[in-house]
Amino acid sequence: MLNLTSNELREKWKSFWQSKGHVNLPEASLIADKESTALFNVAWMQQLIPYLAGKEHPLWHRLFNIQKCVRTVDIDEVWDSFHLTFFDMMWNWSLGEYFKAEAIQWSYEFLVNELWFDPKKLAVTVFEGNADAPRDEVAAAAWQKAWIPADRISFLPEKHNWWSPGPVWPCGPDTEIFYWVGSSEFPPEGSNVKDDEDNWMEIWNNVFMEFYRDEKGHFSKLSQHNVDTGMWFERMCKVLQWKDSIYETDLFAPFISLLEKTTGLTYKWNERKFRIVADHLRTAFMLINDGLTPSNVGAGYVLRMIVRRCYYNLILLKKLNSEELSSFVDAAFVSFKWLREFDEDRIKKTLINEISQFEKTIAKGKWILEDLLKNANGKLAWDQIFMLYDTYGFPLEITKEIAAEKGVELDLEWYKKALEKAKEKSRQSTKVMFQKTADWSKYLEGIPATEFVWYWSLDFQDAKLLKEIDTEEGQKILIFDKTPFYPEMWWQNWDSWNVVLDDWREYTILDVQKTAGVILHFVK
Ligand code: SER
Repeated sequence: MLNLTSNELREKWKSFWQSKGHVNLPEASLIADKESTALFNVAWMQQLIPYLAGKEHPLWHRLFNIQKCVRTVDIDEVWDSFHLTFFDMMWNWSLGEYFKAEAIQWSYEFLVNELWFDPKKLAVTVFEGNADAPRDEVAAAAWQKAWIPADRISFLPEKHNWWSPGPVWPCGPDTEIFYWVGSSEFPPEGSNVKDDEDNWMEIWNNVFMEFYRDEKGHFSKLSQHNVDTGMWFERMCKVLQWKDSIYETDLFAPFISLLEKTTGLTYKWNERKFRIVADHLRTAFMLINDGLTPSNVGAGYVLRMIVRRCYYNLILLKKLNSEELSSFVDAAFVSFKWLREFDEDRIKKTLINEISQFEKTIAKGKWILEDLLKNANGKLAWDQIFMLYDTYGFPLEITKEIAAEKGVELDLEWYKKALEKAKEKSRQSTKVMFQKTADWSKYLEGIPATEFVWYWSLDFQDAKLLKEIDTEEGQKILIFDKTPFYPEMWWQNWDSWNVVLDDWREYTILDVQKTAGVILHFVK
């Protein structure tokens, strides 16, 4: 295999697709629109939707680019050797032109002929089929023709091998390409992604966009078939630079040394925190650079969480005073200089401002925690740990640190269960959110938009009940002039919240939705 710098890889990508008649599509912003609550990964695709459906693209029907992306679905895995929240993806598309056979042949050609990958270290997955689309024998046959042996091809279900940028979009089966990252030099005979998932790293995805899923979940065929492939740039750098993790590649190495210098600690002994700080800071730089500011909803909220997680991992390594923090951010711009052109002033102001707000949350959480620890009798109960995290936004890692200092144990087994339950619930309610398009407007005449107040401000205590609705379907809905609840708070375990009205009636919240600016609390 070749040994390539990140810049050389970019060049290879460009020249390969140009040689196959592709035209460079300009990079899109990470943010669809600043008010939007849409997830980031959808933003780049939106521009292509009409062309996947048959409209002629003004540039050409074969396109490629290298596009910045933010995806936070894998955020909990950002500490291992290859997961990131910000990354560059190398894309190529066929808009109604070539399809599975050519796309797979060229994927193989790029890896093996251009980059000299050893085909013995490659494995692929293809779609196993379901009621909507058949088992992808065409893709499997194309792989075998390109010399991937049958035992390195896994057929997997929709959860793995179906790709769609959102619930209502063009979509289709995909085939994913994996590189061997196991401890032996070569994968043992018969090893494949289905049976040996942990030893294979996904490097490239070919999506065959030929379907459209509508609001009701119905599938139809698009008028043309399309190819949409995405290769993970940083993961390829890890492979091509023979590194154990992406953080050791030329993309991250300067920042990791900066962090060592700033904290006086060694990366090797503090890998997890170093990696989280590095990844999250890069993501924050890029999102703020593209115009996003931290807020309490949607994309802005995700940015807020990323900045905060970055910061508390940093201060767990070393507490910096404001001067040190300021020069650390300046030096970080230099170490990530190659990434994009930065609006350094704006980014720095936004970050420092968010951090100083977060400091207040930390101070408040600490105050509550210290009180709890005094009465903890050696062990802090899971519901208290959960309350600190869920209600006060106080990071678990900091709870752990402080409790350890005071010699108090944490009942984390139960805490984990509560968290899992909350996450499962939020997944369910996200699903429900997409399914439900009920029309509540008939109840809302004359009701002003609800003011959102952040829950640790305690400003919601004097909220006024504006309307109480008993629907024909037997639901009860309460509407207030202000509320600390918001439908996009998908992590919220709604039924852990009760509302008490002025007449002392008490209700448990079941769900929260928003229509025309009015927030509806479904209660029982
Ligand atoms: N759309 C697919 C992805 O983003 C392939 O480009 O993974």
